[in-house]
Amino acid sequence: MKILTIIGARPQFIKAGAVSREIKKHKSLEEVIVHTGQHYDSNMSDIFFEQMHIPKPDYYLGIGGKSHGAMTGEMIIKLEEVMLKEKPDVVMVYGDTNSTLAGSIAASKLHIPIAHVEAGLRSFNMKMPEEINRILTDRVSKWLFCPTDTAVENLKKEGFENFDCKIIKSGDVMQDAAIFYKQYAKKPQNVDIKEDFILSTVHRAENTDDINRLKNIFESLDEIAKDIQVILPLHPRTRKILEQNNINPKNITIIEPVGYLEMVWLLDNSKMVITDSGGLQKEAFFFKKPCITLRDETEWIELLENNFNVLAGADKEKILNLYKNHKFNDNFDIDLYGRGRASENIIRSLIK
Ligand code: UD1
Ligand code: UDP
Repeated sequence: MKILTIIGARPQFIKAGAVSREIKKHKSLEEVIVHTGQHYDSNMSDIFFEQMHIPKPDYYLGIGGKSHGAMTGEMIIKLEEVMLKEKPDVVMVYGDTNSTLAGSIAASKLHIPIAHVEAGLRSFNMKMPEEINRILTDRVSKWLFCPTDTAVENLKKEGFENFDCKIIKSGDVMQDAAIFYKQYAKKPQNVDIKEDFILSTVHRAENTDDINRLKNIFESLDEIAKDIQVILPLHPRTRKILEQNNINPKNITIIEPVGYLEMVWLLDNSKMVITDSGGLQKEAFFFKKPCITLRDETEWIELLENNFNVLAGADKEKILNLYKNHKFNDNFDIDLYGRGRASENIIRSLIK
């Protein structure tokens, strides 16, 4: 069976990397990897392939740094060419980025069955580009690999049981990656890291593209950083917007994006996570850290229900109040994401 894997953005390298390791265990499977180029800086892309020994992509399309329509459109054109040449038995797409949607559209028009890893997630916020990407991808996929029970329920409520697709609860491939790479965790070099620190990231469009939200978030983090070190590996889109708007936080330890092995070290050694990232909310849980989420909703509602995570939006008072006063659940011994067997479940289902 020939699997064509489509990746392009940072979280997809980690997710597809976990599944790739599983694919290699099966002689009957062949994987061809296409990197769309959505993330192109070396510390947003190359470092993951090097550090984590992910197979080098067979195709690099070089389509990044464009508007949503231009990026998605160009990806569809080039992915179609690759699919026509490679004639895969299945196209595998991950998550909710523009690369995911482009792969799904190209494959569905060629009638190539699609496997969607991280299916069924919903924020119910149709202004998020990710919500549109994941809903459309789910609808044209044959295998819907859901990371959580909530994801399965979401699909059932939307009537997916009436469609020609298989809904499979696989668990979350991010947990496979976190468990596997913990042994290789690497302390970031050239950063003065204090004994106690909070790990933070900010990159979601709903925060970066609304200057008031962005200001509130950075003012809050800067205030917290007077109390405890805040280490923030900065996404290039956020860096650009901060610079354009002369936002210069004085107290936050802002660093370049780090590789995944450094990220795992930071997660493991931090006191708390404050983020708008989807992946990082779960990783906080995997590494037993409380998490304040800088969004108004989350796809990972089981983290809220169990009080491992709280939503603060971009409200300065709320962020500071939650940081100072919220009592989180510190009993992390509960299976929410499959305990690291998701890739195995996915490949077993595909072979069947
Ligand atoms: C994308 C995903 C988002 C995911 C994130 C992971 C979509 C719609 N969004 O957002 O869901 O959480 O990846 O990190 O697919 N840039 C660089 N260098 C890079 C990459 C980006 O400078 O290597 C800058 C460019 O100015 C670029 C901007 O960041 O235009 C946005 O990049 P883009 O890939 O469009 O979206 P992300 O914000 O990274
Ligand atoms: N990540 C990383 N280095 C960084 C920031 C994030 O390795 O500087 C990892 C993070 O640990 C997680 C993944 O990238 O595994 C999540 O990506 P991101 O936050 O960019 O996207 P999202 O999950 O919000 O789509």
